[in-house]
Amino acid sequence: MFLALILATTVAFVSGHAGYQEKIPNGRNVPHSCKPNYLWKGVGHLNQAGGGDRNQFGKDFAQAGHQWTVELCEKDSDGDGMSNGQELGDPNCQWEQGKAPDRDTLLSHPGICDPWGSAKCNEKNSWVNCDSDVLTCPAIDEEGTQRMDLRLDLTSVPNKETTYLCMTFDLPSDEEYHMIATKPIINESRVMHHMLLYACSDAAPTMTEPQECGMGSGCDTMIGGWTLGSAGECLHHEAGFRIGKGFAKKALIQYHWNNPEKRYDLSDASGMAIYYTKNLRKYDAGVFRTGQTYLEIPPLLPKVVQQSSCSARCTKKIFKKSAYLTGGSNHMHYLGIAQHVLLRRADGTEQMLTNDQQFRYDNPVDYTYEPPIVLNPGDSLETVCTYQSMSRQKTTFYGEGTYEEMCFAFFNYYPADAIQGICDTRGNLEFCDYRETGCKMAPLFNMTHPDTIALYEKVMSKCSITGDCYHGCRAVVDEIKKTNGCFSSKMADFTYKTLLKYLSDKVEVYQLIYAMRSCEFETENPIVYQEYTEYNKDNDVNDGNGSNNNNVAFYLVLICSIYTLL
Ligand SMILES: *[C@@H]1O[C@H](CO)[C@@H](O)[C@H](O)[C@H]1NC(C)=O
Ligand SMILES: *[C@@H]1O[C@H](CO)[C@@H](O)[C@H](O)[C@H]1NC(C)=O
Ligand SMILES: *[C@@H]1O[C@H](CO)[C@@H](O)[C@H](O)[C@H]1NC(C)=O
Repeated sequence: MFLALILATTVAFVSGHAGYQEKIPNGRNVPHSCKPNYLWKGVGHLNQAGGGDRNQFGKDFAQAGHQWTVELCEKDSDGDGMSNGQELGDPNCQWEQGKAPDRDTLLSHPGICDPWGSAKCNEKNSWVNCDSDVLTCPAIDEEGTQRMDLRLDLTSVPNKETTYLCMTFDLPSDEEYHMIATKPIINESRVMHHMLLYACSDAAPTMTEPQECGMGSGCDTMIGGWTLGSAGECLHHEAGFRIGKGFAKKALIQYHWNNPEKRYDLSDASGMAIYYTKNLRKYDAGVFRTGQTYLEIPPLLPKVVQQSSCSARCTKKIFKKSAYLTGGSNHMHYLGIAQHVLLRRADGTEQMLTNDQQFRYDNPVDYTYEPPIVLNPGDSLETVCTYQSMSRQKTTFYGEGTYEEMCFAFFNYYPADAIQGICDTRGNLEFCDYRETGCKMAPLFNMTHPDTIALYEKVMSKCSITGDCYHGCRAVVDEIKKTNGCFSSKMADFTYKTLLKYLSDKVEVYQLIYAMRSCEFETENPIVYQEYTEYNKDNDVNDGNGSNNNNVAFYLVLICSIYTLL
């Protein structure tokens, strides 16, 4: 039932023409052979991006009439001893278009000889381009620009899929500086997935050794980042991130290591080179984020659209004055296929800030705005993310992991003090509203927290978990709605959804939600309620104790209604 609901609320349709990627198993997930973590999108082509001459697999695919035939599946196009089916996750050659392949991990390219670098493959693979990307940034070579490398000591990578590691570094603090560019230093490219660079307050704890990241690092101001495919970042010539004396004296890098094979023999010493100067620029730069932090992407769909808004109401609260956007980029993970951010001005005019019609996780597009784009309080932003989930067997939710999803756009802007806050949407709720409800979600996830125990006891003492609206329940629920921001009318739906997502194994959570909503049907669904009270009158079962086993039909209606309301 829940799944059916998600499907119904997700904009999804089957597109008429499916590209070649859809005609082979895991067509969108084929890894690049010598650039770990990158994907090879044009699987049949010599160029990883597609187009131009075909590789041997592409030739065989064409000969098979652009179909995944058993013959093509059993063939070993690159002659490395593994059949095309084995390389693409369909070892038994049973896959059909639109279905999930047997596996979506441990894939390899069917047109490139493996193992990469072995004697038997070197000559065969001479056509494969492994070059990394190069940053163009004249300011790096200007007089007065200095470089500092923020790197891990060689650290062994845990043998688990996802590791978030944090480490702080001292910044030059003898004077005031502007940081004007960053470049990645990638040491173990088989695990480096992304890095985020934050400026720290003086009170932030120092982590001179890398640690798995927790909450509340005290380093909250983002000043840089790197994702796969980015050669680095070069700031607008009139702005820089302020560091040094009187500003951040420490920086934190958050590393995301992706180790899907759970190897235990890898070590990494990656980091970032920062370029900074005491020739201060005219403005201090800042980073602004907008997007959706509640995603539900059902499996096996060719197109799923999720969106978020940063309304005029919220920009009026978050924007203190005009902000000048100098650059931006979209951010989703591997399911993302298209994303844009639309700016709608108070006067009704519109402008696309980013527009990736063919989004690729490992090939992010950096948008630069020259002259900068002015954003005023009262303007609004709409972010639209489109995903393709044909390779997934399960619903994909929002999250930081590689196989979870995101829908964000990041913008550089100046002056830094023009924007105070982020402009995310959580479900249907914008962050500026969320903040005002005063909702503190964390205790709700802790079943032994005294506030949570008290909440459950209060609700259960007066409300029924089987669909009856008890006398006294409404008053208790109304009081909770007034005193706990998480259950206020704006937040309740989001809170229920989040609880069901993260505590889906706890029956108490379902009971709490049934109980808290047990009186809503009286007002929100008068017909059902009336039928129910008639039924009770006839059968005289409303004994006020809720143990009404005769009432299965109503119970089912109730559950259905709850899911519909959610
Ligand atoms: C990674 O860093 C270590 C230590 O600095 C170094 O010995 C090693 O050669 C580096 N590996 C690569 C691939 O750069
Ligand atoms: C849950 O709440 C209890 C009581 O306040 C506290 O001792 C415990 O540390 C909390 N657990 C977590 C995981 O926060
Ligand atoms: C309802 O429950 C109370 C306490 O559990 C019990 O004393 C009472 O007899 C019950 N009423 C009926 C009608 O079962």
